[in-house]
Amino acid sequence: MSEIHEGDDVLLYLDQRRTYLVKVEKGKSFHTHKGFVQLEELVGKQYGTRIASSMNIEFIALKPMLQDHIFKMQRRTQITYPKDIALILMFSDAGSGSKIVEAGTGTGALTTALAYHIRPTGHVYSYEIRENFMEMALKNLRRAGVSEYVTVKNRDITEGVDETEVDAVILDLATPWLVISHAYTALKGSGILVSFSPTIDQVVKTVEALKENGFVAVETVECLMRGMQVERGKTRPQTLMTGHTGYITHARKAIK
Ligand SMILES: C[S@@+](CC[C@H](N)C(=O)[O-])C[C@H]1O[C@@H](n2cnc3c(N)ncnc32)[C@H](O)[C@@H]1O
Repeated sequence: MSEIHEGDDVLLYLDQRRTYLVKVEKGKSFHTHKGFVQLEELVGKQYGTRIASSMNIEFIALKPMLQDHIFKMQRRTQITYPKDIALILMFSDAGSGSKIVEAGTGTGALTTALAYHIRPTGHVYSYEIRENFMEMALKNLRRAGVSEYVTVKNRDITEGVDETEVDAVILDLATPWLVISHAYTALKGSGILVSFSPTIDQVVKTVEALKENGFVAVETVECLMRGMQVERGKTRPQTLMTGHTGYITHARKAIK
């Protein structure tokens, strides 16, 4: 499992700020300002192995994690940040076998994380209104190796949801309150709705719609993540942080 094969993705680690997601292929080299790395030399080695570039600078070949695939995606939209994805996964109870409806797909960062967690027996149905975003997301899902667990639909989700008996509906789009009644119809009894919004105005409209449409256990949270700079005698929070991404609202469907 930890041996590198041809065709595998590897995260070449130089330092905390400089990492590169590359595919190991025969005859292919990866060029950086620190020289080039002959990728085929990695075949048959263990993940975690060290490899020297042509300038004798050492890289470490790490096995890419879900968050590496997400951070390295080609982006057309703002993506859901890993700190928010982690909470959305918890609130949506996404796990193997879950049937999930999501909108909008955007770059596919959140979709990738959902697909990764519902494998191998679950499925994500992801709605995206913009065809060009959908195409980019499909490419990203294939690159992350999870596309078989996702159906992407080039559709406006405010016009309705096709799926029924859904475990969770997850929204990251400008007008989530317009989707709440469709989500209610799509969800199983006691099913879960999670909505991510950058502004409080969106949250208020969404929470009102949830209460009007028979959802209970409605809660909104914000997650702030602060990095630490750790060095003996100098340990303290980092000066810079991502000050705001958005608010996460979650709720459960009660039968009317
Ligand atoms: C912020 S992006 C979503 C990012 C995504 N969560 C990710 O991690 O990559 C919002 C997306 O919602 C899409 N969208 C907006 N309104 C929509 C609608 N009514 N139906 C489907 N998609 C919609 C937009 O085109 C955009 O791609």
